[in-house]
Amino acid sequence: MGERPMSRAEGVQEDGPTGAAPQAAGVPVHVGVIMDGNGRWATSRNLPRVEGHRRGVEALRRCVRAAREIGIRYLTIYSFSSENWSRPVSEISELMGLLKRFLRHDLAELHSANVKVRIIGERTSLSRDLCLMLDEAEALTRDNTGLTLVVAFNYGSRQEIASAAQRLAAEVAAGTLKLEDITIEALGGRLDTAGIPDPDLIIRTSGEQRLSNFLMWQAAYSEFVFLPIHWPEFDHAALLGAVQEYARRDRRFGGLTARTGS
Ligand code: FPP
Repeated sequence: MGERPMSRAEGVQEDGPTGAAPQAAGVPVHVGVIMDGNGRWATSRNLPRVEGHRRGVEALRRCVRAAREIGIRYLTIYSFSSENWSRPVSEISELMGLLKRFLRHDLAELHSANVKVRIIGERTSLSRDLCLMLDEAEALTRDNTGLTLVVAFNYGSRQEIASAAQRLAAEVAAGTLKLEDITIEALGGRLDTAGIPDPDLIIRTSGEQRLSNFLMWQAAYSEFVFLPIHWPEFDHAALLGAVQEYARRDRRFGGLTARTGS
């Protein structure tokens, strides 16, 4: 693969493994995934949409395994957006159930694979038992030093940024923060993703080419790879192909080319 691209926002204090091996050349540190196309995959096969989501969980397992094998350190998956509440109640409860089942069945395996689980998104509108499961998953895996799996659940980037702005405003009002200390780093440090480096690569399946309220602040300099396959078809080869495409990109972060320095 190509030379090591520059990565992560300046000034971000990582909360990942300390003393971890340096990243292999061309391998993104952080990959975000918009797992799209479950419904279309199912309906094109005359299956109920929920079957697409169920197969989506299997694809998620393949994706986590592949991310670990490839050496990605952070994997953020968009599993339920703050806009997904507009779906039929039956589909919402299926998605809630799938997350619970995923945590119940896969948490021990993730823990033994040294995976650290982090959840981002609003928890106030989630059920108490789901919140407890999310807390438990984070607590159990807190000290793990392998892949960090960031689950974006009931997540919306606009709300995340608005909440960070509210926190900053409250600190200024309380006199604990000066107005001039409202910086990019200060706001970034109050997002749900505080301590997590910005995504180097964002992958979206299903052929759609948009961000849909996913990591909008953090994706300022992310590379995008849009895959024509639906999420239930995602596998190791799909992730590797996207990473190889990423490695061919010339990331300049608004400057001049990183490859030649000219
Ligand atoms: C988008 O497909 C996918 C989602 C809204 C949910 C993603 C969920 C999973 C992959 C499974 C659940 C995993 C966890 C951890 C809860 P879509 O339904 O929008 O597909 P469509 O655009 O074809 O209708």
